[in-house]
Amino acid sequence: MLISTKVTALLLLWATLGFAACASLGGGSAQAKRQPRVEVSDFGRTQSGAPAERYTLDAGGALKVELTNYGAGVVAIHAPDRAGDYADLVLGFDDVRGYQSSANQYFGCTTGRVANRIREGRFQLNGNSYQLEVNNPPNHLHGGSSGLHTVLWLASPSTTADAAQVRFETFSPAGAGGYPGNLALVVTYTLNREDELRIDYEARTDAATPLNLTNHCYFNLAGAGSASVLEHELQIAAQRYTPVDATLIPDGRLEPLAGTVLDFRQPLAIGGRIAALDEEPTLGYDHNYVLEQALPLATDGPGPALAFACKLRDPASGRSLEIYTSEIGLQFYSGNFLFGQMGKAGQTYPYRSALCLEPQHFPDSVNQPHFPTTILEPGQVRRSTALYRFRAH
Ligand code: GLA
Repeated sequence: MLISTKVTALLLLWATLGFAACASLGGGSAQAKRQPRVEVSDFGRTQSGAPAERYTLDAGGALKVELTNYGAGVVAIHAPDRAGDYADLVLGFDDVRGYQSSANQYFGCTTGRVANRIREGRFQLNGNSYQLEVNNPPNHLHGGSSGLHTVLWLASPSTTADAAQVRFETFSPAGAGGYPGNLALVVTYTLNREDELRIDYEARTDAATPLNLTNHCYFNLAGAGSASVLEHELQIAAQRYTPVDATLIPDGRLEPLAGTVLDFRQPLAIGGRIAALDEEPTLGYDHNYVLEQALPLATDGPGPALAFACKLRDPASGRSLEIYTSEIGLQFYSGNFLFGQMGKAGQTYPYRSALCLEPQHFPDSVNQPHFPTTILEPGQVRRSTALYRFRAH
């Protein structure tokens, strides 16, 4: 009797304590809701001695995102797997010097003025001929060696009730990289509590100029530094692509994906058919997909309407990434030029250990009259948006 009274008392105490613990977790959740914040920290000095910064965004959700003003880029995306264990999902470096080294293949940066390739770096516009830098012989790639990825942007961090944000601005003078037009650019990253990272691009010019902006994150949903991305499953909302020549310049056609190893209309493992592309000039997947722009996503943001572009999923960790965009194309690049360079925390990044999914206009549009134009005219405001939604199931 005595024993059972003691047991009952203990059980009561336990239940009371347990209940109190639950109450402080559940009942306190409104108070415990973390306020969005942006932490600014030192990211080293550039080769010319300018200080670079890192911005750590925490919107009170599961995700933490690190950005830098060097190249207005993404340094890290920390996200939980289905068990709640965190990994950093993008390739990058520990400081700005890494981004200035030859190991950097446009990791995480804002890419431009014109992302992707321009045939032989040449184009004609309003009766003038332009010759850009041929930095990926025989073509121009990603705005050249002094493109937007090498610029220290002006950063303005801020928060709202539900989001953490950094607005990056820069002015690209006429002649920069060989391009015409004084260009005013704003790239705003917004992380919300729902673990969505949104990138809004805005551009104005005083003379007609080609422009094609994107972000060049390399993703591995198992964690940056994992050996391969070939087990990831990918789905792309495209029925056509733009075939390329031996130098990765489109030949002008929009061809159906059906019946090719490029077809990802249904989710499929990236490694399943990639060997068929080993001997192709692309050395794997490195193709522009013509987005269907179906399934529009309602958006209350300031930018244009968005549509589902693709879904990437790592079955092992359960992490997934969906991308929604206002853009008309998606470059899928399977990391074929990664060579085992050393990145963050001493980790190495082998061949095909990460991939890029780059919402943008079609490559070489400036030389392809029937591709939707990339020319920005004076008086226009070019706005485009991409939304990256991270989940774990
Ligand atoms: C892009 C291109 C690739 C390659 C990488 C950078 O994604 O499509 O061909 O140039 O950038 O290495």
